[in-house]
Amino acid sequence: MLAAARTQTVARTGGLVLRAAGVSTWSHVPAGPPDPILGVSEAFKADKDPRKINLGVGAYRDGNGKPYVLGAVKKAEEAIRASNADKEYLPITGLADFTKNAAKLAYGEDSAPFKENSIAVTQSISGTGALRIGGAFLARFYPHSKVIYLPVPSWGNHTPIFRDSGLEVRGYKYFNKETVGLDFEGMKADLKSAPEKSIVLLHACAHNPTGIDPTPEQWAEISDIVKEKQLFPFFDMAYQGFASGSTSRDAQAVRHFVSQGHQIALAQSFAKNMGLYGERVGAFSLTTSGPEERAKVDSQIKIIVRPMYSNPPLHGALIANTILSKPELYGEWEGEVKGMAERIISMRDKLYDSLTHTHKTPGEWGHIKSQIGMFSFTGLTPPQTKALAEKAHIYMTADGRISMAGLNANNIEYFAESVSKAVKGNL
Ligand code: LMR
Repeated sequence: MLAAARTQTVARTGGLVLRAAGVSTWSHVPAGPPDPILGVSEAFKADKDPRKINLGVGAYRDGNGKPYVLGAVKKAEEAIRASNADKEYLPITGLADFTKNAAKLAYGEDSAPFKENSIAVTQSISGTGALRIGGAFLARFYPHSKVIYLPVPSWGNHTPIFRDSGLEVRGYKYFNKETVGLDFEGMKADLKSAPEKSIVLLHACAHNPTGIDPTPEQWAEISDIVKEKQLFPFFDMAYQGFASGSTSRDAQAVRHFVSQGHQIALAQSFAKNMGLYGERVGAFSLTTSGPEERAKVDSQIKIIVRPMYSNPPLHGALIANTILSKPELYGEWEGEVKGMAERIISMRDKLYDSLTHTHKTPGEWGHIKSQIGMFSFTGLTPPQTKALAEKAHIYMTADGRISMAGLNANNIEYFAESVSKAVKGNL
């Protein structure tokens, strides 16, 4: 066909007209902002300075700054290889043994819903996937409200997850800037003034991003308010074991609520406590009134999951299940979780000492030691975090959150010195 004739044919055929005119179908798509957390890793990767430090994403690093594959995970993988497991599809709600063991880990084997077989649980694409399934389930079936209250601040992905699930997102007070602690009075007042039966998201432990958790006594008060206002509690437990080093202590809030008769939703992640980040292993569960209702809820969870991703990946669930079901691996894993938590706690002490005693950094830094879990909410301002990235090659989220796991004996002094300079305004 001659070039002129070809142009005419193109011009006559709908969508092709645009291409003939040199305009793409996607020319109207605006560039989106980088992800507030994962975008930090991209900026870090692009930086070629040897002193660079990534304290952005919450991913554990060992004492040499290297990703850490747990010994229990390596042994579980060997056992899986030796068992010649096939690669068949999992059922829609995942590996049944794994989900049962995940529920046991969270709720405790003596809890009423676990004993009564009334927990509807599905494997999920880690914690994010669990929250997304939960959001979709609540948007479709929770009869009383389409509003979910999140703590302010909360993990950066919570708002988009729930908004994309079809819920309206509102906030309740959580962080007190003055004390760099929990705004417990503000939190209670906001929960009390939320419309009855609203959904409320609670970080079960190691609050992300602040590292500030309510005490057991405060949890008891929160549980009473949730009961009085008939709010629906949705727990996000992404760090079980990472806060205190003990998986059962970190499940205290969830277990307390359940023991008080609350029906709850729960998102679990095995990314942090088993170091299974890229394997995407998690679970979503709901407590129901009994096996009959559980079966109905299960059937609807399947209807939500099937068009999203059909069924979950196998390998990570096999690893987690092998650890959860073999007593010797379970014991080793518990020791390793404790070891990770303790290394982070030791970094907190060192950072506090260095900021206050070595570098005489202006301000109060006690929160570095009192916060728990993977993160510390330093109180550094967005201009300070920007300066730290640009001038010292130190990366963290703009809100001043640092992943304590990114600090080690080799970089903590450089970090403290740079923070101190940033605070004094002479970086
Ligand atoms: C974080 O907060 O850094 C982690 O939960 C990782 C993520 O996906 O954001």
